[in-house]
This record gives sequence, C-alpha cells and structure tokens, in this order.
Amino acid sequence: MYDALVLGAGVIGLSIARELHQRGLKVAIVARDLPDEAHSTGFSSPWAGCNWFSFEKTADTPHAEWDRITFRKLGKLAADFPDLCARIPFYSVWSRPKPDGGRPWFHELVGEYRDLDDPSGKSLPGGFPFGHTFTSYILHAPGYTAHLGRQVRALGIPIIRQRLMSIDEAFDLPQIGPVKLVVNALGLGARALAGVEDEKMYPARGQTVLVYAPGVKTCVMHTEGFMAPPPKAGEKPLPPPAYIIPRPGPEDHVVLGGTYIKDDYSTLPDLRESERILKACYALEPRLAGPNGKSWRDIKVVSHNVGLRPAREGGARLELEERHARKGDKAVVHAYGFGSAGFQCSLGVAEKAAELVSSYLETRPLEAKL
Ligand code: LAC
Repeated sequence: MYDALVLGAGVIGLSIARELHQRGLKVAIVARDLPDEAHSTGFSSPWAGCNWFSFEKTADTPHAEWDRITFRKLGKLAADFPDLCARIPFYSVWSRPKPDGGRPWFHELVGEYRDLDDPSGKSLPGGFPFGHTFTSYILHAPGYTAHLGRQVRALGIPIIRQRLMSIDEAFDLPQIGPVKLVVNALGLGARALAGVEDEKMYPARGQTVLVYAPGVKTCVMHTEGFMAPPPKAGEKPLPPPAYIIPRPGPEDHVVLGGTYIKDDYSTLPDLRESERILKACYALEPRLAGPNGKSWRDIKVVSHNVGLRPAREGGARLELEERHARKGDKAVVHAYGFGSAGFQCSLGVAEKAAELVSSYLETRPLEAKL
C-alpha cells in the first residue's frame, strides 16, 4: 500500500514526491502532464522564467520561509548540475521611491547585496533611478522539471498519466490501489477537480520571448507593478514591466518577459506583446542584440511562449485537510497556488508538505493503520 499519492508532476508535485521518498515513505504520482512534456500548453512548470527573486514583502511570512529554504538548497543544485542552475549577478530597478526604501527582506540571504540608487539615471539598466544588485540563482525550467522527473523515476516512484475528475477517486485508483493520504499539487487543476473546486485559483497568463544571446549573463528585473491591476482612470501608469533572465546551460538562451494577466486562459502568443517585451528588454540591456546589433530588431528570437501561472487569491494553499467521507476519513495535503513563485519556493514547500504528511501518518487513528 502506498503511503502517499501525489497529484501533479510539476515542480511542486515532483519536489514533494522526492522529499517523501527521502523520508522513507512509499509514494506514487498521478499527473495529466508528464515532467518532460516541455511543450504542453496547460502545464505551468516548463514555461517559468525562472529565477530566485522572492516577491515577499517581509521575512516573516510562510512563503518567505519556503523561499529561504529553497535558496539555501539551490547552491548544491548549482554545484551538481550547472546546466540546470547557476548563480549570477542580478539587478532590480524601479522608477518611483518605495515606502520601505526598496531594501528587500532577503538582502542578507543573497550574496553581494548593494543598494544602487542613482537619481541621475545614468548608471542603472534602462536609466532607472532606483535599484539594487545581488547574486542569486537562475534555473532551466523545462530542464529542471525533466530532471526531477528522471530523479523520482530512478527512485522507483511511478509517474502514471491520468486526468482525475475528483479528489475522492485518487484514494483508490485501479493502478495504485488504496492510499493513506493524497497530496494535491495540481496547480490550476485544483480549480475544477471535484471535491476541491477552489474558486480562488486563477490563471495568471505570462508571455515571454526566448532568445539566443550568448553575451548576456546578468539577470535584470523591472517588475514594478508586475502583478498590479491596470491603472485606474487618471492614475499615472508605471512603465510596463520587463525582465531578462538568462537560462543556464549550453544553449545560451535568455528568457525575456513578461506579462501577468489575471484570468486570461489564452495560450496563444500575442506578437504585439512580444514586440513590447523585446523593446523594453533591449532598453534594459542592449547587448541582447549581439555585438553588432543596432536595435531590438536584431535580437535573435528562438520562440514566443505563454505559460499559465497557477495563482490564487490570498496566496498559496499549503495545509492538511481531513475529509469526512462515507468510506472512512481521508486526508489531503494541499500544496498549490504558488503563482510566479513555484520554483523559488519548491524545496521549502516540499519540506513543509512532508512534515504535514508525516505528522498525519504518525497520528492516524489505529483502525486506519490496520
Ligand atoms: C514571472 C517571473 C518574474 O513570474 O517570476 O514571470
């Protein structure tokens, strides 16, 4: 009998399954999209930027804790798999003073942190007056997702393709049999799965342009107002967001972004948006166009991409739910709704989810253990 069945084979489900196995539990995974399906449009993980750049405002939230744990673990990933994770310089820039001065909660966690405000706008990327720099991690999103999939399979964890319709179905699937507990790492799937039906879940559509730019090895983030709704009438709009995230590995690819459009399910790239992204990123880093490049038009586009971030009103859900069902009580650990932050919190989420699983299994009623 399996101890836990994990639903979902994105970065969250895979990280949790591996963590549970490492703690001695017998685990299986059921998923609609398999970890190496880098082109599946409804699958979030492969489309991620993807870097460690925490969006939390303060250090004392659960999310900041997940991010912190993950940051500390990424050093080993970078050392073992440099084509999947690398540490590079980051710049973050913005146009208006921030109430907290702009020093992030993680300034002591990341390396070589410096405030770089320059009202003259001469020294910062894009001529922005405010900014800071530090070193942090970039990840190869499709490569790392596939790598996690290979790792969990090598540990003997089966990954079975199936699209579930209800959470209760997961407790006794024909291929798996009865399980003690289910982990729900379905991301956006948590919205429509019968028995979960989380209406707080929504897609946050993200469009990016993947480009070839061997000369760009620095991450530049202008994410001011990134997740904010469009400005109200009369409000001065912020400059549109843009970011440049080099991808580790021999391809010399760089992810240029991006957008964050709530409730938009379209996975069709909008080429006007791509043009806006290319122009804005060129303004931040003209070396994107190569040594002889003269304008954004000289940037070598590899692909136009759209991913649907699994976002949630009020933030992610990481908790144990004990469901009272006709055939005995059932436990689900929910771990979904991480939006933009799935990779950067994944290893911390895996630890915390595993703690919830272990403490439930340890205190399960005796009759359920038989
Ligand atoms: C995104 C990056 C900024 O969500 O994390 O597009």
